[in-house]
Amino acid sequence: MQIFHTVQGLRQPLAQARREGKRIGFVPTMGNLHDAHIELVKRAQQTNDLVVCSIFVNGLQFGLNEDWDKYPRTFEDDCAKLRAVGCDFLFHPDDKEMYPNGLDTQSRVICPTMTDVLCGASRPGHFEGVTTVVTKLFNIVQPDEAIFGAKDFQQLAVIRRMAEDLCVPVEITAAPIHREVDGLAMSSRNGYLSAAERPRANQLNVSLRWIVSQIEQGNRDFPALEAEAKRQIDTAGFKPDYISVCNSKTLELAAQDDKDITVLGAMYTSGARLIDNISLN
Ligand code: PAJ
Repeated sequence: MQIFHTVQGLRQPLAQARREGKRIGFVPTMGNLHDAHIELVKRAQQTNDLVVCSIFVNGLQFGLNEDWDKYPRTFEDDCAKLRAVGCDFLFHPDDKEMYPNGLDTQSRVICPTMTDVLCGASRPGHFEGVTTVVTKLFNIVQPDEAIFGAKDFQQLAVIRRMAEDLCVPVEITAAPIHREVDGLAMSSRNGYLSAAERPRANQLNVSLRWIVSQIEQGNRDFPALEAEAKRQIDTAGFKPDYISVCNSKTLELAAQDDKDITVLGAMYTSGARLIDNISLN
């Protein structure tokens, strides 16, 4: 695996690969790689000739009181995992390389409305940071295909919308949510869970699955379902952030006759904010 720390360094071999007619797949990450990230790389390998992974803990998408400084940085372990799976290129820029003019005057990419709800409501500015860095990464790598996990469902929807609105010539592919045996969605932030919390941390998934089973049985009183799921999470000792039954494409609250529905949720543990979702067909 070749490792690049600069935009210039990465662009040269990518331009060469493109001239050779190679199809380029891209997996952006913030590192601290776990099995779900590696699954994205494997997915990219299936449909591309060359796979680029990026690791960059993007300060622009973290709020002032969030975990940017304590976000786990495990570069050597990450490299070993990427080498083992046969990733071709790793892009690992530092803050100065990604934001040479500083954060305050950095041009931004804004995807309105869709980013005001759900995680966007609890994390103002977060998605602006995501769409900005992903646009930069797309422009640096110029991939044919980029793979994102369905775990960050709103992020995926926002990036799809941004790519569509701005005519970015990239195919966006969704990879399914990778879970621990008890249903907890894998996440770098699971490392913040205390030993006492970990056995109960799948409650978010349990409650989302409960809502799905209710809907499948014909219960379409979405506000009541959301309220009961929040009560369940509260009883398990966590603080619910939101539980929402949404239209999968627009992320607006689902209408009674919507068929394409996703149930999304977020909850706070003592040291982390965890998210999960389940889509119904
Ligand atoms: P990060 O949280 O590192 O996630 C990188 C990619 O892995 C995202 O597409 C995310 O959805 C996916 N992923 C994480 N956990 C997953 C799971 N359990 N199942 C399936 N996919 C999973 O998301 C980001 O980084 C950043 O916002 C980024 C897009 C890199 C922009 O900075």
